[in-house]
Amino acid sequence: MEKLQFDRHRRLRNSAAMRSLVRETHLHTSDLIYPLFVVEGENIRSAVPSMPGVEHISLDLLEEEISGLVKRGILSIILFGVPAHKDAVGSQAYATEGIVQRATRVVKEAYPEMVVIADTCLCQYTDHGHCGVIHEGYVDNDETLTLLAKTAVSQAEAGADIIAPSNMMDGFVAAIRKGLDEAGYVNTPIMSYAVKYASSFYGPFRDAAHSTPQFGDRKTYQMDPANRLEALREAESDMAEGADFFIVKPALSYLDIMREVKDFTKRPVVAYNVSGEYSMVKAAAQNGWVDEKAIVLEKLTSMKRAGADLIITYHAKDVADWLQES
Ligand code: PBG
Repeated sequence: MEKLQFDRHRRLRNSAAMRSLVRETHLHTSDLIYPLFVVEGENIRSAVPSMPGVEHISLDLLEEEISGLVKRGILSIILFGVPAHKDAVGSQAYATEGIVQRATRVVKEAYPEMVVIADTCLCQYTDHGHCGVIHEGYVDNDETLTLLAKTAVSQAEAGADIIAPSNMMDGFVAAIRKGLDEAGYVNTPIMSYAVKYASSFYGPFRDAAHSTPQFGDRKTYQMDPANRLEALREAESDMAEGADFFIVKPALSYLDIMREVKDFTKRPVVAYNVSGEYSMVKAAAQNGWVDEKAIVLEKLTSMKRAGADLIITYHAKDVADWLQES
C-alpha cells in the first residue's frame, strides 16, 4: 500500500511539557483589571445577589480590599460608583466629593502604585438611569459631552491614572481629551469603551450599579450586536480622537470584533468580560454543571488569543490565586 501523506499534529501534543513549549497564548495576573463597586456609608460589604462573589464596598473598607489585590499581584482596578443621591444631570458623577473621587483618593493615598481606572459615565448618577442628559426623551449628545469632560477632569484631579469613558456619545474621546489637556492632564491616558454593544449581558451589572434605564433602552447610543463594520467605524473615530486603549464589550460573543480592533488599532485592546458572562459561569459552577476554574481560564485565554492585552474581569482574584498555585 502506498504511504499516506499527512501532518502529524499530535507530535506536539504528546506531553504536558511539549504542549507547554508550543503554547501560543499566556494569561498573566498583570493582564487583569478588577472592577470594584464603591458605595456611601460605613462598614459595608454587601453581596450583589446576581453576581456571587462580588460586593459593594464602603470607603472605610477599601484599603483592606486593595491590600488583598496587591498581595495577589493585581496591578489595576476600575472603579464604579454607587452614589447615595441621583438627579436628572448626574451631578454626583463630577462632584469633588463624589463617591468615585473620594474612593480614588483613598486608594492612591494607601497604594500609590495601584493603577486606578475611573469609569466615566452618568448612568449610575442620573435618576432616569440613562448615560446622558435627556431632552424630550432623547439622550442629548453634545450637552452630555460637557458633563463627561467635567467628570473626567474631576476624576483626574482626584488622582485617577486612566479615564475610561463608557457612555458611547459621539465625540466623547475628543471632548475628554480636550478637557484633560486644558486642565493640565496631558499625560492621563484614555481607555475608551470604543466598541460597546447594546447587550443583554449587562443585566447583573445594572443590579449591582443600580443603573437600569427607567424608560426605553440604550439602543440609540450602544451598538447593534449584529454589526461588524460599525464597530470598526467606532474604533476608527476613537483612534482619530486620541484614545490610548480600546475596550471591546462584551467579550465572549465578540471575539471576532476584538481581533479586528486589535489588528486595526495596533494599540492596547481591553476585553470587558462583563457581568452576564461572569454570572452564567458562577451559576453553572454552583450547580456543579461546569468546572469553574477550567472554564474561566479557558474563556480568558480565548480573549487574549483574540487580541486582548488586558481583561476587565470579576474573576480576577480567583484567577490570580489559580495562576499562583500553578
Ligand atoms: C455604564 C456601564 C455598564 C457596564 C459598564 N459600564 C452598563 C451599561 O452600559 O448598562 C456593564 C458592565 C458589566 O455588565 O459587567 N455605562
